[in-house]
Amino acid sequence: MKFFLDTADVAEIADFAATGLLDGVTTNPSLVAKSGRNFLEVVKEICGIVSGPVSAEVVATDYDNMLREADIVRNLAPNVCVKLPLTMDGLKACRKLTGEGTLVNVTLCFSAPQALLAAKAGASFISPFVGRHDDVGFDGMDLIEDIRLIYDNYDFATEILVASVRHPVHILQAAKIGADVVTAPPAVLRQLANHPLTDRGLTQFLADWAKTGQTIA
Ligand code: G3P
Repeated sequence: MKFFLDTADVAEIADFAATGLLDGVTTNPSLVAKSGRNFLEVVKEICGIVSGPVSAEVVATDYDNMLREADIVRNLAPNVCVKLPLTMDGLKACRKLTGEGTLVNVTLCFSAPQALLAAKAGASFISPFVGRHDDVGFDGMDLIEDIRLIYDNYDFATEILVASVRHPVHILQAAKIGADVVTAPPAVLRQLANHPLTDRGLTQFLADWAKTGQTIA
């Protein structure tokens, strides 16, 4: 399973990239606004830190202007992945851009039929939002299971990129279902490493080691 960071915070990205565990980054207009950075500048900077795909979202909602913005964004770096909304214009733009060899992430997916359309449009990634589904009383993971089943039925190459991840259990469930990628806020990815028994065990080992009076040198 690939791990993407869902943030436009360059310091967080650089910090996590240094672990060697980071496969890509996703941004969206809200995350760019939160960073306070210029959109094109921050995307370019992130692309220099991470070698994997970096999703950068267009804000136009009509086909022609989506393509115009996508052209600016994809020329920033070879690992830019153009993020398009799951609308008919977005799907049409997806088909055109993937036909030209551009990576495309189709975002704001809330149903399996939408995901089927994105795969037919040749999307590199589909982004179903699990947390926002949970927020309105549906189990977001049911959606991931449905998409996995449909994509496997037809051997679609589109990667399932689980988005709107709020906690480690989302990542555990996504991995059990066989999602290809999760994108999560930095704090959630870090939480994966935490366990109180690990902390307690380490404290005990270090205390016992101190009793030996030894050093490793
Ligand atoms: O990148 C889109 C996404 O992951 C949104 O997450 O927490 O705003 O629903 P959230």
